[in-house]
Amino acid sequence: MSFDRSIKIAPSILSADFANFGAEIAAIEAQGADWVHVDVMDGHFVPNLTFGPPAVAAFRRHVKTVMDVHLMIAPVDPYIDAFAQAGADILTAHVEAGPHIHRTLQAIRGAGMKAGVALNPGTPAGAVAHLLDLADLVCVMTVNPGFGGQKFIDMTDKVRSLRAMIGDRPVHIEIDGGVDSVTAPLVAQAGADVLVAGSAVFKGGSVDAPEVYGRNIRAIRAAAAGVYV
Ligand code: DX5
Ligand code: ZN
Repeated sequence: MSFDRSIKIAPSILSADFANFGAEIAAIEAQGADWVHVDVMDGHFVPNLTFGPPAVAAFRRHVKTVMDVHLMIAPVDPYIDAFAQAGADILTAHVEAGPHIHRTLQAIRGAGMKAGVALNPGTPAGAVAHLLDLADLVCVMTVNPGFGGQKFIDMTDKVRSLRAMIGDRPVHIEIDGGVDSVTAPLVAQAGADVLVAGSAVFKGGSVDAPEVYGRNIRAIRAAAAGVYV
């Protein structure tokens, strides 16, 4: 994985058909997804439950691009090795998930993965000021995590602050929640380069009509670039 700040679209498979993940992953990648975003929820840090390491290992067999695993769990540290074994390329933990995020990011890199740190909407940019040399990605939540299909919360100022704080460091800014072709340009202009989108990618499509995924991905990418289709 080389670093660049071009726009990357990362569909969240939280909006895929849960009985058909292999085909869904193949379909979004064939239709232009840059990364595959996997939302892990524990029913404790967030009020919803999704996948554990065995499911993530099964997804890995289908992911040819980058598997971007977003942990919405607490605690994180006891599960880092299991997600490394499952084949996560990037493992993101929330700054709110425990008192020792600095140690967690070191442990994620120590396990051979890229390390991400996520911020809930109520958490200021400054919470990661002392973590930027330990992180490969900062994820700015633009919804309160737990569910797909929620309304975008404008965090443009936070993105702009983070972009300035990051400077020349090779750290991605990812946006997660309510990203579509209306909201993508706001965050892209503020300095984000990875756009997670669940409902806006999967809406209207299926593995039998994957061209809809392609159309949705292209619409978000074009909007982020300031081109309206
Ligand atoms: C929210 C998740 C998101 C979610 C995005 O808790 O972290 O990745 O799936 O879904 P949309 O794009 O539908 O808001
Ligand atoms: Zn996510």
